[in-house]
Amino acid sequence: MCGIIGYTGNNKAVPYLLEGLGRLEYRGYDSTGIATTQGNSINITKAKGRLSVLKSIIASKKQSTSTVGIGHTRWATHGEPSTVNSHPHLSRNGLFAVVHNGIIENYKELKSDLQKDGYVFRSDTDTEVIAHLLERNYDGDLVSTVSKTAKMLTGAYALCILCRDFPEKIVCTRLGSPLVVCTGDEGTFVSSDTLAISGHADKVFRPKAGEIILLAKDKVSFFNKALKEIFITPEKLTLKSTDTDKEGYEHYMLKEIMEQPEAVRSTLSHIIKNGRISFDSFSLTKQEAEAIRGIYIVACGSAYHVGVSGKYIIEKLTGIPTHTDIASEFRYRNPPVSKNDLCIIISQSGETADSIAAMKKVKEKGAKVLSLVNVEGSTISLSGDYVIHTKAGPEIAVATTKAYSCQLAVIYCLGVYFSSLLGILSEKEQSRLIEEILSLPETIEATIVATRSKAESLSELFTEKEHAYFIGRGTDYAAAMEGSLKLKEISYIHSEAYGAGELKHGTISLIEPGTMVVALMSDENVFTKTYSNVREVKARSARVLAVSTKKHEHEISSLDHCIIIPDCSSLTVPSAEIIPLQLLSYFTALKRSCDIDKPRNLAKSVTVE
Ligand code: AGP
Repeated sequence: MCGIIGYTGNNKAVPYLLEGLGRLEYRGYDSTGIATTQGNSINITKAKGRLSVLKSIIASKKQSTSTVGIGHTRWATHGEPSTVNSHPHLSRNGLFAVVHNGIIENYKELKSDLQKDGYVFRSDTDTEVIAHLLERNYDGDLVSTVSKTAKMLTGAYALCILCRDFPEKIVCTRLGSPLVVCTGDEGTFVSSDTLAISGHADKVFRPKAGEIILLAKDKVSFFNKALKEIFITPEKLTLKSTDTDKEGYEHYMLKEIMEQPEAVRSTLSHIIKNGRISFDSFSLTKQEAEAIRGIYIVACGSAYHVGVSGKYIIEKLTGIPTHTDIASEFRYRNPPVSKNDLCIIISQSGETADSIAAMKKVKEKGAKVLSLVNVEGSTISLSGDYVIHTKAGPEIAVATTKAYSCQLAVIYCLGVYFSSLLGILSEKEQSRLIEEILSLPETIEATIVATRSKAESLSELFTEKEHAYFIGRGTDYAAAMEGSLKLKEISYIHSEAYGAGELKHGTISLIEPGTMVVALMSDENVFTKTYSNVREVKARSARVLAVSTKKHEHEISSLDHCIIIPDCSSLTVPSAEIIPLQLLSYFTALKRSCDIDKPRNLAKSVTVE
């Protein structure tokens, strides 16, 4: 996944481009570049490495006075991270410059066709094909040239294009990758998301797939696939520039861990009103709920871990068979989904390619899709039959925390909602569970306070380790998966999550004196069973860090190390026990001097399969 940005207005373009690329770095950061127009020439500066490398090159040059430009920050798909492969890419005679987010699936055929026409390629990227095609298709009209070129492409793309003949304009189009256009007193912007522009514009336009957008200093024109000019109603852009500010924290990840109580409070405030659960864009009748044959929860990474928790929670509350799958497997296994099933796609970004593909598969089979998404206006948000938005606010750190907690909170609400619809929960039980859900922000707050310093000190146990194991049963197993992912994705320590009862079926052979095992023991239903698994690894001299509730403090205090979370509802305990695991990972990565907000090889949203 990459980030793209463009600006045209009366102010200097480069500061907007560099600020925007800094806010888009979470989408990819192995190389960056900008292109600006100056009279009838296009000037390009690009470099391998982080944005700071590009900034130092630009600072060493004569300051650009250009008021039009495009920029790009890359997560390499085709062509290794290098200066020549970084964007923008120029067409053969320098007539066009292009930045691109997405993948052109038929680029090889197009490339060989262009090479037969004598086009010489400088890079190994798919994007350079677009630049040369634009030049070959150029008919003097930007919109028709882009339309002709886009029709030749298969795959996903969001494009920002400069043309030497129209130095004050930017032309864009999208298919399968996100692109927003924002306007305000400072000029006209285009970007992969509104975060990059927040604080500089007050209106946002969300062009649909295939539409072409022509940006001028004080005018934006939209064209449909028939090249007819259309009118798009803008939305008010509410993001503040502080949304993208660390506000004194050393890392976005720590800021976002601390924001969890408020993020969950904001999410719940849109769902629980006057003690009742109701979703803005999702409702079922009792008959519809009774007709549900099964629920499929499909997602990737941490969102999938929420799905695993959801399986246990929804089945326990409703008895509806609930299946969970990682999207990259689900999309290719021809799942037996039918119109009587409900599919829940969970995604923070709403742009994860595998989850989008899984959603398409489900819709082809006639099932309804409920999107559970944090980014409004994203592909998954717009494509569901129903949608529930978490209100975590922008999540910048690649390692998700507050969005994860908000997704869990919505899962609890869905479980109670379905169970109430089916008449399983009495009014009294419903009210009790809703009260427990409403106390989640306080539970999370109390857990942060109770576990932060312990997690920081215990992170010492991991900083020199090469391996760690997370074990748990029931919803503790989902927490083990998420805790394991948090540790490995930001501290680069190899870590595995295992069902505690599964260890003896092979993996226990890896347990040797001093092996770190984190035992999640907060699911009351299986505490004693997990405890016996802990004894098994202790018998092999593992070093155990147990995480459990205050109720079991006396039992686990005999283990090597323990983190006690405040007693809370059995329904919402997954939200509490993940907090010390987030903090443990954060402080371990900090002590290992890892790049916490932008871990190597990762991107915030994986928009390629
Ligand atoms: C989690 O910390 C990771 N950043 C990653 O696993 C992420 O959860 C996954 O890529 C799914 O992203 P999404 O929620 O935006 O679809």
